[in-house]
Amino acid sequence: MKVIAISGSPRPRGNTSQLIEIVFNAIKEKDNTIETEMIQLAGKIINTCLSCYKCVKNKDNKCIQKDDLNAIYAKMVKADAIIFGAPVYFGDVTGKMRCFIERVGMIAMFNNKAFKRKIGAIVIAKRRQGGIQSLNTVNFLFYISEMIIVGYAIGIGTTPGEVQNDSEGINDAKTLGKNIFWLLNKIHN
Ligand SMILES: Cc1cc2nc3c(=O)[nH]c(=O)nc-3n(C[C@H](O)[C@H](O)[C@H](O)COP(=O)(O)O)c2cc1C
Repeated sequence: MKVIAISGSPRPRGNTSQLIEIVFNAIKEKDNTIETEMIQLAGKIINTCLSCYKCVKNKDNKCIQKDDLNAIYAKMVKADAIIFGAPVYFGDVTGKMRCFIERVGMIAMFNNKAFKRKIGAIVIAKRRQGGIQSLNTVNFLFYISEMIIVGYAIGIGTTPGEVQNDSEGINDAKTLGKNIFWLLNKIHN
């Protein structure tokens, strides 16, 4: 079984990634044969959707744009559970994450619902305000994709690593990992 996480933060070692690591560790503590992989959008080129509908017409599980999206999409198709890691920027996900969601969502929807019945989870890092809209944004992708939503964790922090002081957020991330493990087993064993 494989769990992947996509971090939308421009800071690969920031609070979002640190929360994802906590989720991964909680999964591994239950079963260390479950594979985990974190994918950073930082440093990747993810363009906006062109609304060309080529993914709808071609039905080849690909976007026609030659950037870094298709490789990540292919990993999502193979994964059993997908965690979206989203720092809050002005009350919502980052711009790059939004571009990512629009494009992978469109490809999956018109390629035989490629994410159908995969487990979906969300990890949010924020300084103070917002977060609910980020949950809505990612959940909407999960709903449209017919994914099974297992839960979320929100961690508070501004500078990288500050989230480690948010004991409630850390606990929620551990619980999320345990619940991902539990649901993976219910579905696959
Ligand atoms: C452009 C920008 C906008 C932000 N907007 C918000 C916001 O609306 N609400 C909030 O609580 N934090 C906001 N923050 C703070 C980040 O969410 C916070 O630093 C978070 O820990 C970043 O996660 P990271 O370390 O994974 O990058 C913003 C940060 C930046 C750079």
